Amino acid sequence: MQTGFSINGSVHSDMPLIEVRGLVKQFGGLRAIDGMSMALKRGEMVGLIGPNGAGKTTMFNLIAGALKPTSGAIRIGDADVSGEGAEQRIGRGVGRTFQIPRPFAEMTVLENVLTGAQGQSGERFWMNFLSTRKVAAEERAAVEKARALLDFVLLAKLQNEPARVLSGGQRKLLELARILMADPDVILLDEPAAGVNPTLLELIIDRVRALNGQGKTILLIEHNMEMVARLCGRVIVMAAGKLLAEGTPAEVSRHPAVVSAYLGGVA
Ligand SMILES: Nc1ncnc2c1ncn2[C@@H]1O[C@H](COP(=O)(O)OP(=O)(O)OP(=O)(O)O)[C@@H](O)[C@H]1O
Ligand SMILES: [Mg+2]
Repeated sequence: MQTGFSINGSVHSDMPLIEVRGLVKQFGGLRAIDGMSMALKRGEMVGLIGPNGAGKTTMFNLIAGALKPTSGAIRIGDADVSGEGAEQRIGRGVGRTFQIPRPFAEMTVLENVLTGAQGQSGERFWMNFLSTRKVAAEERAAVEKARALLDFVLLAKLQNEPARVLSGGQRKLLELARILMADPDVILLDEPAAGVNPTLLELIIDRVRALNGQGKTILLIEHNMEMVARLCGRVIVMAAGKLLAEGTPAEVSRHPAVVSAYLGGVA
């Protein structure tokens, strides 16, 4: 199930995989995203940081197609996708996790992962699967893949448990497995370390690094700067819906505007 972009590598090898230009998102009187521009190269792992309310999750919602921009453009490869919705964005290889994962609590862990399957509408797929109990070849392949992904995130032993038994950290890993069902090229991770115990945190870091090693482009929202510094060579800092700074983790952490934004001052 390849979902590549229509990028002619030889001609556009230096073209960003994702590019956002002059993005604005207005919520009533609030300009949550206020002229944000940024770009991701294929295969990069980039941190997206900023104080609470900076607009990081809203950026994910815009890049993933869950929200439409008020103005500005979002490009994936050579396509302007600004007007496309979330389903189409998945088809273009964008996968995103949610800041607060909300798995289907009564469905099993395995069934939750299967909802990430692309091609079959995820929902129709598992309804069908559950009602008929008839597993066609394609469905068997999806189940095999879901099991392999649960192995990857060390949740295989819990595959038949209802998702409600999972800890916060395990829910983050379940989400990761779910989005990997659609073979994303770009993975947007919204605070994968928040509320996660130290052991699970190391597993998450290891798995994120492995995915990047497989060539996946990763944008990581995270307040845990140690995690960001360990994983990302480049960090984008937002405040009040704008780009505040950009650089290596060491550069941004001593940048005066970043320091003052984190101390609560308006940069
Ligand atoms: N759907 C919405 N409707 C109205 N306002 C919203 C909506 N989504 C976000 N906002 C507002 O937009 C601003 C940016 O929110 P966002 O969730 O993007 O911040 P964030 O950087 O992810 O913060 P945090 O680190 O706390 O998760 C906030 O003021 C928030 O209240
Ligand atoms: Mg957020």
